[in-house]
Amino acid sequence: MTSLPAILGGVPIRRTPFPPRRTMGTEERAAVLAVLDSDCLSGFIGAAGEGFLGGPQVRAFESAWADQYGFRHAVSVNSWTSGLVAALGAVGVGPGDEVICSPFTMSASATCALFWGAVPVFADIDPVTFCLDPASVAAKCSPRTRAIVVVHLFGHPADMDGILAVARRANIAVVEDAAQAPGARYHGQPVGALGACGGFSLNYHKHIHTGEGGMLVTQDDAIAKRLQLIRNHGENLPDHWPIDTDTCLFGGNYRLTELQAAIGIAQLQRLEGLLAHRQALATYLSAQLSGYPGIVPPVVAEDCTHSWYVYPIRYDAETVGLSRSLFVQAVNAELPLPHDFEATALVGGYVRPLYLNRVYQERRAFAHGHFPFDRSPLVSYEAGLCPVAERMSERELLLCPIVREPLCTHDLDDLVAAIDRVLTHAPMIQTQVGVPRA
Ligand SMILES: Cc1ncc(COP(=O)(O)O)c(C=O)c1O
Repeated sequence: MTSLPAILGGVPIRRTPFPPRRTMGTEERAAVLAVLDSDCLSGFIGAAGEGFLGGPQVRAFESAWADQYGFRHAVSVNSWTSGLVAALGAVGVGPGDEVICSPFTMSASATCALFWGAVPVFADIDPVTFCLDPASVAAKCSPRTRAIVVVHLFGHPADMDGILAVARRANIAVVEDAAQAPGARYHGQPVGALGACGGFSLNYHKHIHTGEGGMLVTQDDAIAKRLQLIRNHGENLPDHWPIDTDTCLFGGNYRLTELQAAIGIAQLQRLEGLLAHRQALATYLSAQLSGYPGIVPPVVAEDCTHSWYVYPIRYDAETVGLSRSLFVQAVNAELPLPHDFEATALVGGYVRPLYLNRVYQERRAFAHGHFPFDRSPLVSYEAGLCPVAERMSERELLLCPIVREPLCTHDLDDLVAAIDRVLTHAPMIQTQVGVPRA
């Protein structure tokens, strides 16, 4: 008989915590000190002239990103939330418009529409990639639709051929939320600028980071100009500034600092190595997990490269005989208590579908009234709207955040051993700990 599971009083499989991420090295330290010595912590000025596009580090960071992935333009911002707002402004989203979004993503992928007085319209996701399903997107298009925000969730590229085909037919823009997918590829092309524009998050939890920050990318010169305008008080530019007027004429302060940009340059040099490490771990984990009933490793679509922000698993409670939450509890009991999300072996679910959030349920975005929801009264936010997203959220999805540096395959062996032990003892766990399943 194999040893008793930890949740039933047995000895846990692992005693030492998974090693934490160390993201800053000597290169980042030297870069920061050089900026401090220069005494120029931001080169931006919110008016026409040299400083409109930022200081030397900001420009160098943008050029380095654009060069590394073959983008015509890269425009840094102080968060990817700001980047999404700028992107929707740049593609001409405004009051009365509708923007098709995924309900299964970080909230900013949809609230970016509200900033411009447009409403998010939620389409369902594909159960294999967890990204927007083009058929559902097509069904949600209306004469008011101005844009689609497509998310490359967990690092897997969305079905861009399908999404771009819908967008072409409806004559609407595609913005890529590649917050979690730097370096991911679709038919060999890096994601981010396959549509009108898109970009990446540089918050602390991402593959590479600048504490907070983001990077917009586009192949389109006019869109790049609009992004720069929205990033930095475009309202102050003189009338002769060479920009088309098919966009808003004001901006905000979405500027990255020189310190962050200097860190970003050093981080960018690490990105491909980090991606290769994650790829190797993900491949290893998929091989180890294959064949366990009720545990379905992620499938990477043909001609796509995943960036493995996290490793998603499909879970079948019926087959395993344990509810998802009890399974997660039992597996994590075999492993040391995590310090944070990145050291947690297994998490049940991701977000609840965004339309269930209060802002949509009450149709109230601003302090007064129901604008912009009152402009699109037929748009639904009812429970049941996106059944696949609801199923993933409530029952089927498990996330494994430890497919990352500096973990090695032997760390993942402990996770697999924990899963194996729990699966072997599932009936015993269910009898002793589980509540009767309906
Ligand atoms: C898919 C997605 N979109 C948008 C964001 C927002 O990015 P930021 O935190 O840089 O504002 C995140 C951040 O977690 C994200 O994961």
